[in-house]
Amino acid sequence: MKKKKNTARILLLFWTAFIGFGAVAGSLGMLLDRSGHALGMDGMLPYFQVLPFADVLFRDFLFSGIALLLVNGVTNLLSFGLLLARKKIGIVLGTVFGVTLMLWICIQFYIFPANFLSTAYFIFGFLQTVCGYTAWVRYKQQRFRFDASKYCRIGKNPRALVVYFSREGYTEKAAYEEADKTGAEVYAVKTTEKIDGNLGFLWCGRFGTERKPMPIEKVSVDWKKYDAVTIFTPVWVFSLAAPVREFCKQASGKIKNVRLVCVHFTKGKYTGVRKECEALLQSNIDDYENRICRFGEIKK
Ligand SMILES: Cc1cc2nc3c(=O)[nH]c(=O)nc-3n(C[C@H](O)[C@H](O)[C@H](O)COP(=O)(O)O)c2cc1C
Repeated sequence: MKKKKNTARILLLFWTAFIGFGAVAGSLGMLLDRSGHALGMDGMLPYFQVLPFADVLFRDFLFSGIALLLVNGVTNLLSFGLLLARKKIGIVLGTVFGVTLMLWICIQFYIFPANFLSTAYFIFGFLQTVCGYTAWVRYKQQRFRFDASKYCRIGKNPRALVVYFSREGYTEKAAYEEADKTGAEVYAVKTTEKIDGNLGFLWCGRFGTERKPMPIEKVSVDWKKYDAVTIFTPVWVFSLAAPVREFCKQASGKIKNVRLVCVHFTKGKYTGVRKECEALLQSNIDDYENRICRFGEIKK
């Protein structure tokens, strides 16, 4: 399987560097001229008087400069360095420091009148947090591994078949685990459409929204050979994945003793998928199960 790109990690690198270096530069400006005159900030000091211990801490920009350096400067540069070193903790800290920046700006919202810079930096903090969370999800997905060669019991029971369709490999792994348990043979439904990457995702989404079957490679299964068939399908847009829809149409009236396993992200039961599958196959589904796949892990 192709390694997924972690674009969010690169964006997080940008945000931690941008906020970190910016905070260091700003704090140095405050520390080198504590009156704030050089940065044109001296007029802002009276606003700080609403804060606790203002008469001690906010007579000049010494405390603010140190706080900015520690809270937004050193922290973000630390996570920038850890991200460069490709450490997982860099992603976690980068996300946390995005939240920290938003909290910092909330204090500014409290003490200063509405202004463009505070609003812009609040949005930057939000974007940093979103990039951090996405990078973390991507990181977990990248660690997902599927190795078909480790399933050695597959095919030992030639009367049972596991059919699956999989775009990203999660349903494939769940199907192989099942076949390895029961000794069933395995059949992969393959689409002729381009479904890889972000564009592929959108293309699948279109089929999902329109509830359309997606063209697949010709189904080459001798159904008479099997006493029991288990179908593993991902859920697309709350319904049956479009290639499995086409598969069910082609297998209509040919399969007996069907079991259905739905693999999806959310915790829904997706009973509609079962109904659609039954209608297309013109056969009762004897047993129905859900598997949740999240961040590179599959759970029952
Ligand atoms: C186009 C599309 C639509 C999806 N819609 C849903 C959905 O409505 N609910 C859900 O829980 N997961 C949804 N997912 C997530 C998939 O169910 C999940 O990624 C899938 O089980 C992964 O299987 P695969 O790796 O075998 O492709 C969707 C995925 C795609 C590609």
